Amino acid sequence: MDYETPQFFRVMQYAARADGDVVDMVSGNPDWEPPESLREGLRDYADGDVSEFQYPPSVGLTPLRDEIAERRGVDRSRVLVTNGAGEANHLATTSALDRGTGSEVIMTDPVYPYYAGRSNLLDAPATYVPVDETGQLDPADVRAAASDDTAAIVVNSPNNPTGAVYPPETVEELVTIAEAYDAVLVADEVYDHFDYTGTFESALAADSDHVVATNSFSKSLAITGFRVGYAVFPPEDGPLGELVERARTRHMLTNVTGSRPAQAAVLRALRDTPPEYYERNRQRLRERIDRFTDALDAAGAEYTTPGGSFYVMARFEGFPGTMENVERLIDEAGVAGMPGEAFGEARADWLRFALVTPRVDEAAERLADYLG
Ligand SMILES: Cc1ncc(COP(=O)(O)O)c(C=O)c1O
Repeated sequence: MDYETPQFFRVMQYAARADGDVVDMVSGNPDWEPPESLREGLRDYADGDVSEFQYPPSVGLTPLRDEIAERRGVDRSRVLVTNGAGEANHLATTSALDRGTGSEVIMTDPVYPYYAGRSNLLDAPATYVPVDETGQLDPADVRAAASDDTAAIVVNSPNNPTGAVYPPETVEELVTIAEAYDAVLVADEVYDHFDYTGTFESALAADSDHVVATNSFSKSLAITGFRVGYAVFPPEDGPLGELVERARTRHMLTNVTGSRPAQAAVLRALRDTPPEYYERNRQRLRERIDRFTDALDAAGAEYTTPGGSFYVMARFEGFPGTMENVERLIDEAGVAGMPGEAFGEARADWLRFALVTPRVDEAAERLADYLG
């Protein structure tokens, strides 16, 4: 895939400049409230001692790493707090490539565009494995694509953009393939709190030295602007112990460290937020998915019902998912989505709509009026 810069900001800017009213279904920015304890944590932080305003440890605040480690059932030494899952994915991929055991990265088509842009940036050849109509990945296809030159297999479940949740057997197979080719499975689990199937299982469950799980609080706590994420690396004393060491060094030399107020607020929210907060957000999204897909039915569109994350991909007869068509939808229908072609070749005919707006009914009606 010829991919230089992710197109999200281009579409968002185009929509912002539009003359008429536009329903924004481009970004992955939640439109719901963070937990109240997060706001409290921030307020309290502002009144803290000046010493609290200084550098936190480069690897992240110790109590935050402890909290993450406990939730993930791993030793704290394996947890590196990062500037979002974006940085966690970068560190996981680069440290896999740094091993020098392979130069190629396997990913899916459609793909989260930052993975593709990263392999271009790093001059690491990418091999794209197409997923099926429902967004599921067949591990046999990944096995067929893998070779001794494979450094990393980068997957995302629950998936952006397809909404697929990979069953535990798929993830286990992917781990086995990474082990067989001495590669690293980078499992981006940033939407783990948005699983509507009840079947999601973290790749960490495989307890393999060949897995790096990445995650963040951007989506689960509705704070994409805070930039707090993390990666869980294999144990330091294991065969791939070098990964975490390289990642720590790269993180420190690039960022020095992460933002302390953001980490402190996340820590408060993690400790004080009940499970109902996450369930409420899932319920809100389930309802939006139902309403949006009902309206897509009425418009005669083809679509995939997401089992997780918060995106719906839809295909309208005679209206492929090109950038030109996305701009036309913004100008003429007042709905902004992402072109399927931004995610690779497999869904080039499709459009992706993010359900992070209360105006999903309105958007669907506008689409039906314009394209139905
Ligand atoms: C699959 C995936 N990974 C990573 C990210 C980036 O997450 P963060 O804000 O934590 O960097 C996103 C954001 O939309 C995403 O969809």
